Amino acid sequence: MTGLPEGIVHYPDHFDRPAQEALVEAVRNVVRAAPLFVPTMPRTGKPMHVRMSNCGSLGWVTDKDNGYRYQPTHPQTGRNWPPIPPALLQLWEDVASFGAPPEACLINFYGDTAKMGLHQDRDEEEFSAPVVSVSLGDDCLFRIGGTTRGGPTRSIRLRSGDVIVLGGAARLCFHGVDRIYPGTSTLLKDGGRINLTLRRVSSAGK
Ligand code: SIN
Ligand code: FE2
Repeated sequence: MTGLPEGIVHYPDHFDRPAQEALVEAVRNVVRAAPLFVPTMPRTGKPMHVRMSNCGSLGWVTDKDNGYRYQPTHPQTGRNWPPIPPALLQLWEDVASFGAPPEACLINFYGDTAKMGLHQDRDEEEFSAPVVSVSLGDDCLFRIGGTTRGGPTRSIRLRSGDVIVLGGAARLCFHGVDRIYPGTSTLLKDGGRINLTLRRVSSAGK
């Protein structure tokens, strides 16, 4: 019993150190082909704190003019996103309990002072599929609320190798990252935190 809201499952240390190193290598290969970019908020154009890329048939992007959306191509190179690495497809098989594969894997890179405000992941058509999230590198303080803005929230510390699944009643819960704890992991040689989120975007037709 973790005390987390129903629909949220936390798997501490799901990936051991060698598996984490292999995932970092896979992410480095993705960002070589699909470089990290600084996303900007709809309308205001304010830059987000994280740098971002994607793999999969669709990637999540945002900018001032066109807002939040999924698209098959990188906004700067115009090329298709690289495929989702097999270890992440396997993770989805293992924890998502959903009969269709993920289409998008968003890669967020947090520097020492980066954070992410409370938000819902709601740009997908298919809310019956969970969001599966992997933490690599420095610890963070992850905040989780309910499905309405302004309700009570609680915080948990996520560590390198942890997986968290937001599904069921918690699929549309508000969540965000309050802070990074610099220097808490040796996984990334220049520090920081990588978060990977796997999502099913289009309706799986069920
Ligand atoms: C996100 O909600 O897109 C990122 C969550 C995280 O970094 O753990
Ligand atoms: Fe999110």
